Amino acid sequence: VQYQITSSRLHHRLYSLTDSSETGPEDEEAETRVPLTPLQKLTNDMCKDEKTIKELIIGRRVGFYKVRGEIGYGTFSRVKMAFHALTKDKVALKMLDKARLDIQAQRLLSREISSMESLQHPNVVRLYEVVETPSRLYLVLEYAGGGDLHNRICNEGKFSDNSSKIIFAQILSAIKYMHNINIIHRDLKAENVLFASNGCVKVADFGFSTQVSNRNDALDTFCGSPPYAAPELFRDESYLGPPVDVWAMGVLLFFMVTGTMPFRAETMGKLRRCIIEGTYSVPPWMPGPCQKLIKGILKTAPAERYAVEQMMGCDWLLPVEFPWTLVPAESLSPLQSLLESESKDLEEMVEEVRGSLEELGFTTEHLRNNQPKDSRNPFTGVFRILLHQAQKRRGCDCPPVVRGMVRDPKREGLRAYRGLRHTSKFCVLS
Ligand code: ADE
Repeated sequence: VQYQITSSRLHHRLYSLTDSSETGPEDEEAETRVPLTPLQKLTNDMCKDEKTIKELIIGRRVGFYKVRGEIGYGTFSRVKMAFHALTKDKVALKMLDKARLDIQAQRLLSREISSMESLQHPNVVRLYEVVETPSRLYLVLEYAGGGDLHNRICNEGKFSDNSSKIIFAQILSAIKYMHNINIIHRDLKAENVLFASNGCVKVADFGFSTQVSNRNDALDTFCGSPPYAAPELFRDESYLGPPVDVWAMGVLLFFMVTGTMPFRAETMGKLRRCIIEGTYSVPPWMPGPCQKLIKGILKTAPAERYAVEQMMGCDWLLPVEFPWTLVPAESLSPLQSLLESESKDLEEMVEEVRGSLEELGFTTEHLRNNQPKDSRNPFTGVFRILLHQAQKRRGCDCPPVVRGMVRDPKREGLRAYRGLRHTSKFCVLS
């Protein structure tokens, strides 16, 4: 990507602002005093400013982002916090060394990117941009600063019944949305559920996700973390995607409500047997409607297992009010909406984004020449961040409420689960 702004173009813009009758010797000076737009300043600095160039070389800056400290890591990646230099928004930067990516990892990464590009939901971590340097790939992601569900439970114990409902309803909403567009997550676990600072829950890490052409398509790769794996993954040669995500949600729900995992064993062989047999015990204090939901989900035969729709209609979730309707599909093609917004609902938001883009120094020409569907474009990053800001201002990112809930009961201090974080695996079933 070229950040160069030619001086002739700058001058051209400045001349167009000058009254021709004033042409005189002072004009050259007057021109130089016209302040640069934030975009011009940034792109100039990236080309000419020694400090900025040095930061780009040593990785303290990546594209339009200023990089800060490390906040996480995965098998092939490290995650750092970063800020957008123009919008000032915090983002999570997932960094991957290209040299360490074998063919398999490259395939998974391209699936991760393409899944995330199709997803726009309040409970799914957004992908804003992809930045590539000669040695690295960076996924610029929505920042969720409240830590993950696994650490939350390990540090603070199980959740109350009401809090569990609020969290689970959001995960369910995210999964229903992705299954509707044929995306299967395949690595749902508490470590991959993040909290935003407002308490909203975000499903993250689409590194094992896949998009099927039909929800009844059989898959044959073992993905995910063994304690969350459905029995058919150990037992059968192929499996259907949605029931595998549903099973993992059952394990997650059990973990949230009890602070313990339903299937535990000292060895992988014993864990496998436990899961295939579906042997787990529900503590008697667990509320009946929650027990019923878990029993409906943790059915060893995928065909008998609850479908997402049955989960949404279960008694346990009856008092949950979802504040949002699913994000309209047209917001997935933002360029179109920005240039000729059709939907009444979107119009206002699009106007806001257009205004912010102009303030930063993006022109209509920029809008015409850049496709915000192309993730590898710094304009896309700015555009998606501003669009998300506008959506958040409209309350799209807020947790659901539970009807009749007086106040959140005090969190129970059970610290029953002190297990290690679960690592995910990937292998072809044989
Ligand atoms: N760790 C991994 N992904 C993250 C994200 N999107 N936000 C905050 N921390 C993270």
